[in-house]
Amino acid sequence: MKIKNSVVIVTGANRGLGKQFAAQLLERGAERVYAAARNPELVDLPGVDAIRLDVTDQQHVDDAAHAVGHADIVINNAGFSSFARLVDGDLNDIRREIEVNYFGALRMIRAFAPAMRNRGRGAFLNVSSVMAWLGYEHSNSYGASKAANWAMSNGLREELAGAGIQVSSVLLGSTDTDMMAGIDVPKNRPEELVATVLDQFEGGVNEILADDAAQGLKSGLSDDRGSFAG
Ligand SMILES: NC(=O)c1ccc[n+]([C@@H]2O[C@H](COP(=O)([O-])OP(=O)(O)OC[C@H]3O[C@@H](n4cnc5c(N)ncnc54)[C@H](OP(=O)(O)O)[C@@H]3O)[C@@H](O)[C@H]2O)c1
Repeated sequence: MKIKNSVVIVTGANRGLGKQFAAQLLERGAERVYAAARNPELVDLPGVDAIRLDVTDQQHVDDAAHAVGHADIVINNAGFSSFARLVDGDLNDIRREIEVNYFGALRMIRAFAPAMRNRGRGAFLNVSSVMAWLGYEHSNSYGASKAANWAMSNGLREELAGAGIQVSSVLLGSTDTDMMAGIDVPKNRPEELVATVLDQFEGGVNEILADDAAQGLKSGLSDDRGSFAG
């Protein structure tokens, strides 16, 4: 899906990768970029249309779909990591990860896919994580929600086959945003990561392995490691 002259909505666009997506969409000639955020007053990017959207709120999602009308591209970027552990973490935190990372993206898809189907064109870019594919301390409940997000993209691709709708899933490792603040691991630069993702998205890639971590883990899925600890 080409970005030039397209109408795009990006969730979680007030900071981190979402803000970077919005900025680079403008640079690539998108006609209109809706920068969706829980608090649109925090969107400080000239040239975008800020829009209020908490992806856990069905009314917000319906209102956004109504306001945008048709979107050529929906970028499901909004994400939440509580760092809760599966065995003894707070279940409310774990539920919130599923609500934002899986149901939030699914709500957007259900709201925007019908218009894409009617027009016979459109694209979803769903941001998952390499944590969908392995265990790592304090990221396991988050990983489960991102595995749901990844599986959702695979299923959507099947359901929307023949409708002219591209479904791309993004797998990435550590990238230098607020989400990873205080975690001392090597990190991608957001600018480079997003440029790589958008290049592949425009090239029609279904499963975007955006960095070395994603490429290495994908090729190792058939081994029995399954964990950074193993
Ligand atoms: N950074 C990494 O290493 C990494 C690795 C793999 C995948 N990812 C994924 O990449 C995406 C972007 O993450 P990031 O690194 O940019 O994280 P971030 O800096 O923590 O930003 C998260 C964004 O999501 C928004 N958000 C959270 N809950 C929301 C909700 N209920 N409704 C709408 N927006 C909501 C936040 O809005 P507020 O400002 O209102 O909280 C913020 O704009 C996420 O899906 C994340 O899981 C990141």
